[in-house]
Amino acid sequence: MSEVRGKVCVVTGAGSGIGRALALELARRGARAVAISDIKLETAEATAELIGAGTEIHTAALDVSDREAFAAYASEVAGTFGQVHQIYNNAGVADNDPVTEFDYDRYERILNVNLWGVIYGTKEFLPHLIASGDGHVINVSSLNGIMAQQGLSAYCASKFAVRGFTESVAFDLKGEGLPVRTTVVHPGGIKTSIADSAMEWARSAGLPVTPEQEARKAFYNEKLLKMDPARAARIVIDGVESNNPRVLVGNDAKMLDALVRLMPRRWPMAFGLLERRFEKELEARGIQPKSKQPVAESRPVHH
Ligand SMILES: NC(=O)c1ccc[n+]([C@@H]2O[C@H](COP(=O)([O-])OP(=O)(O)OC[C@H]3O[C@@H](n4cnc5c(N)ncnc54)[C@H](O)[C@@H]3O)[C@@H](O)[C@H]2O)c1
Repeated sequence: MSEVRGKVCVVTGAGSGIGRALALELARRGARAVAISDIKLETAEATAELIGAGTEIHTAALDVSDREAFAAYASEVAGTFGQVHQIYNNAGVADNDPVTEFDYDRYERILNVNLWGVIYGTKEFLPHLIASGDGHVINVSSLNGIMAQQGLSAYCASKFAVRGFTESVAFDLKGEGLPVRTTVVHPGGIKTSIADSAMEWARSAGLPVTPEQEARKAFYNEKLLKMDPARAARIVIDGVESNNPRVLVGNDAKMLDALVRLMPRRWPMAFGLLERRFEKELEARGIQPKSKQPVAESRPVHH
């Protein structure tokens, strides 16, 4: 059984948002130990401080896209606690722009963190999960692992792949009779820093940030990313504890998942409506949407 009580659990990207909430909820449900890591050590430490006495904690700086660092981290965590039962491969980043404006470096960054980070986390911890006799791999995909969206070709590629990877691994583990279960998580809109971080990264990379992109971020934060991460964490861990191989987080995720399956050709209409709502907001702010601007005669295509 994948009950959390008494287990050793690992959460990546645990310095913020869903990852921090997962770490807190695992401790609240009586995990014996929680290993908390983030690319930003100080945020992982801040999460650890929020966890009261009674739970063993290991904190570390970990960049999930660094394979060697992940291998060393898995040995260190297993050495510290003697066993590992659950890994929550949660760390992830977003970046949006049309394919014509997205260069290879940006694709590599998103795939390295969102996909390779999940593959490394699964493979490096698998021997320990198997040895525990009661292991569980939890990989965080997205609603965008079910449904594509404009401007998110890298993010969607990474999140669809996380889903395919996890579902295939589930067959392998079952086929080999190994004591490890899997859960792929598809959150809808959760109130976290993901959109702010994406914009912060774009600025730090010297990319032009237009008023339309600023407005889109505000629109996402106000209208779409609404669920409290603590609630999302409870839904995820309820799913893990009941051995659910697939967890949809939020009514938006459930509704759009059904729509994509039931209306495979017509569901993009839902996004047409959303885009129109967004364009109205833009116009109310005096910004002309890009879709209504004349197409440049020769637009550069980035590589
Ligand atoms: N917020 C949403 O609406 C939403 C929806 C669907 C899926 N998700 C997914 O949920 C996961 C968590 O995102 P969140 O919304 O909590 O965002 P967040 O930005 O609040 O948290 C992400 C955390 O990951 C860390 N991180 C970034 N790059 C890293 C790296 N290379 N190595 C280790 N840590 C790294 C960040 O420092 C941050 O603490 C992501 O995989 C995201 O794609 C989020």
